[in-house]
Amino acid sequence: MGTIEDSCDPSKAMSNVGRDGLGHSVLYQYQGFWVFAEALENIKDFQHNFKALDTDLILASVPKSGTVWLKALAFAIVNRTRYPTFSSSHHHPLLTISPHDLVPFVDFKHVYPDCSLLDYTKSTSHESACRLLATHVPYPSLPESIMDGSTNCKIVYLCRNPQDTFISMWHYMNTIRNNYKVTPLLIEEAFDFFCEGVSDFGPFWDHVLGYWKESLENPHKVFFLRYEDLKEEPEPQLKKLAEFLGHGFSVEEESHGAIKEIVNLCSFQHLRNLDVNKNGKIFSDNVANKDIFRKGEVGDWKNYLTPIMVERLDRLTEEKLHGSGLAF
Ligand code: A3P
Repeated sequence: MGTIEDSCDPSKAMSNVGRDGLGHSVLYQYQGFWVFAEALENIKDFQHNFKALDTDLILASVPKSGTVWLKALAFAIVNRTRYPTFSSSHHHPLLTISPHDLVPFVDFKHVYPDCSLLDYTKSTSHESACRLLATHVPYPSLPESIMDGSTNCKIVYLCRNPQDTFISMWHYMNTIRNNYKVTPLLIEEAFDFFCEGVSDFGPFWDHVLGYWKESLENPHKVFFLRYEDLKEEPEPQLKKLAEFLGHGFSVEEESHGAIKEIVNLCSFQHLRNLDVNKNGKIFSDNVANKDIFRKGEVGDWKNYLTPIMVERLDRLTEEKLHGSGLAF
């Protein structure tokens, strides 16, 4: 088994999973994690050319952890002076633009050809006071300038329990496979891949642990957020998130309901029913905006995983996270 270390040329990869395996295209192993061919060049570009600034805010996650939700929340928080969120405001960008377009992914730079935030030769953006960017890249593979402590650039990591992440991933993969006319993957096949660590930006556990450990060692740098906590108590979580981002809510804002307004603006039901998120496409012609908003629940895995699968995943998770202080 080999890995792609120095080249973005997928043909040089020894270790891959083809179209008949996991995804709609080939998945390669790069620096210990698995990635679809389309993202490789962008990740290399990010690693080599991105120079972090003090004001940069990076949103990181495993795919299907609720990234789009975090993008919406963070965008609404940091831009709330420019774009107030109170109910009578009909001009908030989130009402007409997908969170994926407001907060671009560095990993999929090729789908944002005109995005100045992704032009790493520019030191500041004309669009906003800070660069708000998203990535699925694991912590150890982030650009040196983000990790070396030379700037105050901050990272928010959103994690979700492995069961729901897997189910969401499996649904999404099959939606895309279907759009590309590739045969759907049986849940048993996808589950084996996931448990073996072969998933988009997986292994899942390594990804989560990388950011978890950094959040413990460097809590001012990495803020560790859980999807389940956000669902259960969105307002206190949002308040903490805003403080971490350096955009804490004032007492006055809080008393006027600013936190609640953002929670409501970014709620699953609200975002999902907006025209922009019901229609239109993102990333490529083969991903519809509506495919991003499926159920948005905690515990949907109970409808799909057999007791044997649950036991295997629980055991694996316990083994992998043992001694880390992290549990699901
Ligand atoms: P489900 O497939 O379980 O419904 P990502 O953005 O990382 O791809 O994650 C997508 C998952 O987050 C999907 O999970 C999606 O429904 C859920 N999601 C999207 N927006 C959400 C929101 N505003 N609140 C809660 N969950 C949301």
